[in-house]
Amino acid sequence: MKRRILNIVGARPNFMKMAPIHRLMLQSECLEPKLVHTGQHYDKAMSKVFFDELQMPEPDAYLGVGSGSHAVQTAQVMIELEKVMLDLRPDLVIVVGDVNSTVAAAIVAAKLWIPVAHVEAGLRSGDRSMPEEINRILTDAIAEFEFVTEKSGLVNLEREGIDSGKIHLVGNVMIDSLIANLKRAEVSTILEQLHVSKRGYSLVTLHRPSNVDNRQNLSKILAAFKMIQEKTKIIFPIHPRTRRMIAELGFEDEVRQMDNLILLDPIGYLDFIHLMAHAQFVLTDSGGIQEETTYLGIPCLTLRENTERPVTVEIGTNQLIGMDTEQIIDHSQEILPGKIRQGRVPELWDGHTAERILRIIEEKFC
Ligand code: UD1
Repeated sequence: MKRRILNIVGARPNFMKMAPIHRLMLQSECLEPKLVHTGQHYDKAMSKVFFDELQMPEPDAYLGVGSGSHAVQTAQVMIELEKVMLDLRPDLVIVVGDVNSTVAAAIVAAKLWIPVAHVEAGLRSGDRSMPEEINRILTDAIAEFEFVTEKSGLVNLEREGIDSGKIHLVGNVMIDSLIANLKRAEVSTILEQLHVSKRGYSLVTLHRPSNVDNRQNLSKILAAFKMIQEKTKIIFPIHPRTRRMIAELGFEDEVRQMDNLILLDPIGYLDFIHLMAHAQFVLTDSGGIQEETTYLGIPCLTLRENTERPVTVEIGTNQLIGMDTEQIIDHSQEILPGKIRQGRVPELWDGHTAERILRIIEEKFC
């Protein structure tokens, strides 16, 4: 009989991490993967488009939990997932990343004595005011398999007293997805649609609560964008949270007046890869984009004081520049004349991470 594995996804950054694992597992002779979508992200642009583009099958279970406060969202995932786990009785639950669905699923599984595998374990920003940092620490504390993307993760887990037998440096599944989709992304027509040329624009993403829910920080960041767009076009696919906060905090007019800032609804995976790969530079507060730009060799200016992905700064193309208006403008202006920092691709970010993960799981369960 095949061993049943529950693969959990919930929010946009989960889909490209789980896709290569789930796809490979469907071909396994001894594992029976079941895909569960919590519904933390539910808009077509935040969820369905990724399933389509990543050629992921329909989830075996969709929990439809939606938005809410951290407690409500996490609790709702837990209540619904417990029913699914009791029904399907998996041998292993796999969670990825650091979103609320990740920690919720890990807790439910651990309490049902089902082992948990955490993909992207060990990353630490050291900033416990970030909801994701709490999710990472808690998930790693109860996982039986810690699949680590970069060496800092090994050090962090060891410091937290995690048994070294549980820890596996395997590389980065998100980079598996990036590599697998680069060719398909290359034929995207998004640049023509937006009337921009290769290297003729910068790309922005912004959604961290510490940046967009805070009037002072959002105002400083928008002031920098105002200056930057006078020199180069800015393409800004906007996260629903950020759109809402710009309206709530009264910045809509300011944004509308920036003639060279192209505001878009959230866009699909392939178009986004295309935009990243051909940008002059990227300005972001995302976690994953720091890694994707390092792989692509595109300069990334991260609008944060810290990162849980230090390898992107140490050997990649990432720079932590904070939220100060002058800093953002100064760093952007350094890159605009074409002065870019050459980076390297971290060890094991080679497109074969899902294979390594599967080998370890099969060794244990088959
Ligand atoms: C979540 C993750 C974050 C990840 C981000 C990527 C947590 C704690 N945060 O943040 O780590 O980087 O996803 O996008 O899990 N909304 C919609 N449609 C959707 C989803 C959300 O309109 O499909 C709006 C809702 O107004 C919601 C808000 O966005 O209240 C925030 O969504 P939520 O899932 O709570 O957190 P994110 O900010 O997306």
